[in-house]
Amino acid sequence: MPESSARQRYLITSALPYANGDIHLGYLVEAVMTDIFARFQRMKGHEVAYVCASDAHGTPIELKAVELGIAPEEIAGSFQKAHVRDLKGFQISLDMFHTTHSEETRRHLNAIYQAARDKGLIYKKEVEGFYSPEDKRFLPDRWIRGTCPKCKSPDQYGDSCEVCNSTYRPTDLIDARSAISGGSLEVRKSSHIFYKLSATQPFLQEWVRERRMPESTLQFVNEWLAAGLRDWDISRDAPYFGFPIPDEKDKYFYVWVDAPVGYIGATEKYCRESGRSSDDFWKDPACKVVHVIGKDIVYFHCLFWPSMLKTAGYNTPHRVQVHGFLTVNGQKMSKSRGTFINASTFLKHLDPEYLRYFYASKTRPEPDDLDLNIGSWEDPEDPGSLDASKSELVERVNSEFVNNQANFASRVIQFLNKRLESRLGALPAEAQAIGQRIREYFKPAIEKAYAGFDSAQAMRLINELALEANKYFQDQEPWKVIRQDPERARAICTVGANYVKVLTAFIKPVAPNYCARVEKSLAVDSLSWQDIRFDLAQRTIGQFETLIPRVDPDSVKAMVLESRHEAAAPQAASKELHPPLREEISIDDFLKIDLRVAQVLKAQSVEGADKLLKLTIDVGESDPRTIFAGIKKHYRPEQLEGRRIIVVANLKPRKMRFGLSQGMLLAADDGEDVLLLGVDAEPSPGSTVG
Ligand code: MSP
Ligand code: ZN
Repeated sequence: MPESSARQRYLITSALPYANGDIHLGYLVEAVMTDIFARFQRMKGHEVAYVCASDAHGTPIELKAVELGIAPEEIAGSFQKAHVRDLKGFQISLDMFHTTHSEETRRHLNAIYQAARDKGLIYKKEVEGFYSPEDKRFLPDRWIRGTCPKCKSPDQYGDSCEVCNSTYRPTDLIDARSAISGGSLEVRKSSHIFYKLSATQPFLQEWVRERRMPESTLQFVNEWLAAGLRDWDISRDAPYFGFPIPDEKDKYFYVWVDAPVGYIGATEKYCRESGRSSDDFWKDPACKVVHVIGKDIVYFHCLFWPSMLKTAGYNTPHRVQVHGFLTVNGQKMSKSRGTFINASTFLKHLDPEYLRYFYASKTRPEPDDLDLNIGSWEDPEDPGSLDASKSELVERVNSEFVNNQANFASRVIQFLNKRLESRLGALPAEAQAIGQRIREYFKPAIEKAYAGFDSAQAMRLINELALEANKYFQDQEPWKVIRQDPERARAICTVGANYVKVLTAFIKPVAPNYCARVEKSLAVDSLSWQDIRFDLAQRTIGQFETLIPRVDPDSVKAMVLESRHEAAAPQAASKELHPPLREEISIDDFLKIDLRVAQVLKAQSVEGADKLLKLTIDVGESDPRTIFAGIKKHYRPEQLEGRRIIVVANLKPRKMRFGLSQGMLLAADDGEDVLLLGVDAEPSPGSTVG
């Protein structure tokens, strides 16, 4: 139960990542910021549903599917899985991560559209677009390329030039062509469906007046409102990956129409699985809807979205919290420099709580860009020359989180374990004043900071308190006092343990795993906001366990090198995409294949072949066979000798440049690794498989 205020209900979201790319450190600025807020509200005892989804629809995914020859659903599905995995890896405490390509989203989208129609806010208008006869489709500006009308640079986008930064219409391009086929374009008319945003301007003006966003965002939005709102084209012509517009032929909702409805769809799915009603979050005015977004998508969230919600009778956002963009070493993330870092790459090298802490210490309520400094290069052209040891990431995390907090907790707990039988005593007189200062100064200030998305301020206060705690322990010198007066030493350590408890609870929204380890060492239950007080006494604590090691600069460097390597390789994400199924076969077709267990007797590289290994195998026949397998990049010969594998034994022998191959081995291929199939125990060579 919350302490003072009544129990509040929150629906909290992060923006939906597109389902054609992996989660990277930029998106994590947003996810971590949202997660800290959600965890803080839960700790306060409030009811929270934190939901998100993959944004599945739109032209890029549709075209990628065409290119790969698979269904767009398949791309969206595999990225959704990767998103879930990566967000979990960073302890993002989502109650639901859904996809916009869902029945839940479709249902709410249609309801919103129907409400807009009923209110006379939907109309049709002819619109001129750029049609590519070769691709048989209208093309968005981003898929049109041509020569810049201003500076004459070739191969520029349909809406702007990357060389001279001028903006224009695709018709202004010299020699405009399709970026897909290179074919020429025609201006064609098509009927489009519009949402009368202009008619809802009075409502939006009212809505904005309640200061539901950062000040600088509010200024922008007010300028847009002052200029007058234009109606919104919500339809796209087929072919398009999205939801069809009811009662229309070959018309689809533009991706940005259904994307935010995905917030409601995800809530619906969460509610169905937990036996609740999504109306508790989206129709009951007592619920506070809080969106966290980047500064590039303010128009959608602060104008279109509240207007649509209001029209259809849903709750409008209580707050839209906006953040800036991540830069690495002061620049946009760059693939060639290795500073475009995927979440999964970070996790391979570093503890996610390092990044969570670092972001927390840099996140302010206004949408300023945030820099992740990972060190300096001796030679900027040579990523291997990175020196991460003096980076802000390493220094800040090590000095504040590890030294100031974790090491303090370690000292207190270990001293109690080793010298005082792990027993806490009574709190001494001085604990009174410390407890009061925490209650009256730190607690309300840190609470206000977290509630206002000012985790930088929260971290500053927590570190201020940690310094006081360290100073107390240092000044009291329990390691000396214990010689004459063990009970006084116990009292000092009891104060120390209370400091540890309070500091840990304060930082719990940021570093939940670290906190779980401290809770275990102190033998206390999961800490909530109510536990932030000095009251641990006369009890036995648990055994110390390692809390969090220092950041190793070499790991930072290894991560950067790997990121650069990944960027050079073909699209990292495509390894998640498996080829479509081959055509169906009958059991008779299958039985024609004679699979056998074989034992590798010998494995050798083949002169002049960089992919092949030559294997001598025993298939239970009088003589061994020879096969050539394309696994040299994945296995060293000595890893194979003696091992049992599965081979197709009745495959017609194939003459290769290096000799005759008398069979084929079976292996799994995930697009990146090749992994041999084997058997559980050691059946004799020649055993059948089927
Ligand atoms: N799919 C839309 C959002 C739909 S919400 C109904 C979209 N997707 S996105 O993948 O491009 O971006 C998702 C979020 O990540 C956005 O809020 C965006 O601002 C944020 N970021 C993307 N790159 C970022 C950085 N480099 N730094 C910080 N945030 C960044 O937009
Ligand atoms: Zn130009």
